[in-house]
Amino acid sequence: MKLESAEAMSMASRHPEAVPKEELVRFEGVSKSFGALQAVHGVSLSVAEGEFITLVGPSGCGKSTLLNMTAGLFEPTEGRVTYRGELVRPYNRKVGYMTQSDHLLHWRTVERNIAVPLEIARMPRPQIRARVEELLELVGLAGFGASYPGELSGGMRKRCALARLLAYDPETLLFDEPFAALDAQLRLKMQMEIRRIVAKLNKTVLFVTHDLDEAVALADRCVVFAGRPGTIKEVLDIPLPRERDLFGIRHNADYVGMTARLWDEMAPAAAQCGG
Ligand SMILES: Nc1ncnc2c1ncn2[C@@H]1O[C@H](COP(=O)(O)OP(=O)(O)O)[C@@H](O)[C@H]1O
Ligand SMILES: [Mg+2]
Repeated sequence: MKLESAEAMSMASRHPEAVPKEELVRFEGVSKSFGALQAVHGVSLSVAEGEFITLVGPSGCGKSTLLNMTAGLFEPTEGRVTYRGELVRPYNRKVGYMTQSDHLLHWRTVERNIAVPLEIARMPRPQIRARVEELLELVGLAGFGASYPGELSGGMRKRCALARLLAYDPETLLFDEPFAALDAQLRLKMQMEIRRIVAKLNKTVLFVTHDLDEAVALADRCVVFAGRPGTIKEVLDIPLPRERDLFGIRHNADYVGMTARLWDEMAPAAAQCGG
């Protein structure tokens, strides 16, 4: 009995998502066509508040299309996408979107880049200043507010784009291969930052990647996407603790097992998808 309850406690800490949470995003039988081309077919998926979901799959399988539908940029051709039970319409203001290109304004300093959404929201200047300071601290850019994007390293630019994304406090973050252009070490560092920040702010995340290691390392659940049109092949629960050391997990048996399984899954999927 004692052992059982200890086991239950350890399960609860390993799977905090086991506690029922409110559903944020729901895809119900979603298909999307662009003219004659069907990009996505029959996708059903429910994302709970606070979950970190990765979407992995070869190029052209419709991963970005799913994010775009979540943001209300595209409407599904069939099925429904809802957010907190409401049909998603252009545009879903509850989400923030970050892609591979950071779209920083090179003529504005770091702090004035981060301030853009706050200026648009007409926040008073003193409040903007305080909020920007807080964000600089959060993303590890304290002291760089007066720098220009051109003076920053690749990782610092990502941090700046992340701070700007967080400025208007979106409930759900959509990431579309944000670190694809970074070298392996920098990518790892940014992955650690993302998990730290997301946990601290209790954000819900949909993170698209074609990097299978990244898909496992970051996720609470990993959605394996494949085919043309793209369909969900499998949804994997990632049995890693919520607080995880992304350096250390390279030696974790669960991590090694999951990535190996994903590689096995994706080999035929990649062949199916073509180049
Ligand atoms: N706006 C669009 N207009 C026409 N075709 C599109 C558009 N967006 C995506 N597609 C097509 O839909 C398919 C899926 O694309 P995408 O969602 O970008 O895949 P992924 O992100 O997995 O690489 C591709 O064949 C792509 O060319
Ligand atoms: Mg894409």
